[in-house]
Amino acid sequence: MTNAQESQKRLLAATAALIGAAEMDPTLDLPDIGLATASLANRGPLLSGEPVCPPLVSELLDAVELPEIHHLQSMLLALRDAAPTLRWIDPYADRPDQAEFRAGYFATVLAGDPTRDASLTVGTEASIFITVQAPRILYPPHSHLAPELYCAVAGNAEWKKGDGPFELMPPDSWMVHSPWTSHAMQTRAEPLVALAIWTADRDCIISLDD
Ligand SMILES: [Fe+2]
Repeated sequence: MTNAQESQKRLLAATAALIGAAEMDPTLDLPDIGLATASLANRGPLLSGEPVCPPLVSELLDAVELPEIHHLQSMLLALRDAAPTLRWIDPYADRPDQAEFRAGYFATVLAGDPTRDASLTVGTEASIFITVQAPRILYPPHSHLAPELYCAVAGNAEWKKGDGPFELMPPDSWMVHSPWTSHAMQTRAEPLVALAIWTADRDCIISLDD
């Protein structure tokens, strides 16, 4: 096994530990989070593919403050190590009008739907993504059919859901977005690293609200 694959396995294990901790927390009651656990437990082999890692991704991962909570800290450290070996994508490549947002927003698919984006592994029951957002960037309001769970892994950013206000959500906050619920994220002075999970309708598209 190569060093890159070792890093990737450590990242998947740290992600599974983070998700497992949330699943065991009765105060969170996250719908269908067990599908994410199952996907990582039953995952396929690591898929080979050329890594694509813009230098800004590593700079942002290095700049964000290490969370105090152990399982978040472990995940961020594993992500810093594995990031250069992953395929980071621009999910809004078809939106030239969103240049400012796209210059500061990156995603990678850890466990993907076999019918779509290149991912690190195939997720059998759920899709699992990592997103990195630069400081002072607005991810505009958007929605999708897939029900979504989000964890703020590192960075204090403002999150908005539906018609509600932007609210500061520190690391270890979980957000639940039911199908077609509009949501948006606004970073402040620090980057945001987040974990997103889709538990159904994983082949859907994301629509910006504009
Ligand atoms: Fe979403």
